[in-house]
Amino acid sequence: MDGVTVINHPLVQHKLTIMRKKETSTAGFRRLLREISTLLCYEVTRDLELTMETIETPLQTIQAPVLEGKKLVFASILRAGNGLLEGMLELVPSARVSHVGVYRDHETLEAVEYYFKAPEAMSERLVIVVDPMLATGNSSIAAIDKLKERGAKNLRFLCLLAAPEGIRNFQAAHPDVPIYTASIDSHLNEKGYIMPGLGDAGDRMYGTK
Ligand code: URA
Repeated sequence: MDGVTVINHPLVQHKLTIMRKKETSTAGFRRLLREISTLLCYEVTRDLELTMETIETPLQTIQAPVLEGKKLVFASILRAGNGLLEGMLELVPSARVSHVGVYRDHETLEAVEYYFKAPEAMSERLVIVVDPMLATGNSSIAAIDKLKERGAKNLRFLCLLAAPEGIRNFQAAHPDVPIYTASIDSHLNEKGYIMPGLGDAGDRMYGTK
């Protein structure tokens, strides 16, 4: 599918299968989400630009590659986005973080925004927006609307599971934002859950109902 990268690394797929199992505990789910997020982060950052810097090893002065440009921004769509964020920050500890509080109204499935924080100079940074589930797409579309209002121009969206309906809505609203996911699942059910999915990602991470 155009604009969508499915990250089918065997470790990602294996861990995802365990996360989908209904008997996987809260602690297990959280640990796997942290592990899988480092692997997803590795893939979503694989083509970042490098620049050469002069450094001295104990033996010689050389030109060596470092990441170019301003620090990345990881934008977490609360609350489930934080499960992906933690592992990503382990890999890129200097990244800046934006939090976007959006919840799904369970009746209308519309996104309701309640919190927003972002670093300065958003227009000069790569912004990687994270949310484990791309279901209807309403939350991620609203979050990206807000990030663009704040100046973000160069964005990527990273999730664990995506529904085809969510991908369609997302791409209609934000055709310039590439999607990275570990799986494109079958469809959304009548309650807006991804099928076969893994249930409510936030509930599974935090042991809530
Ligand atoms: N959000 C979730 O956590 N799970 C779904 O299946 C859909 C949206």
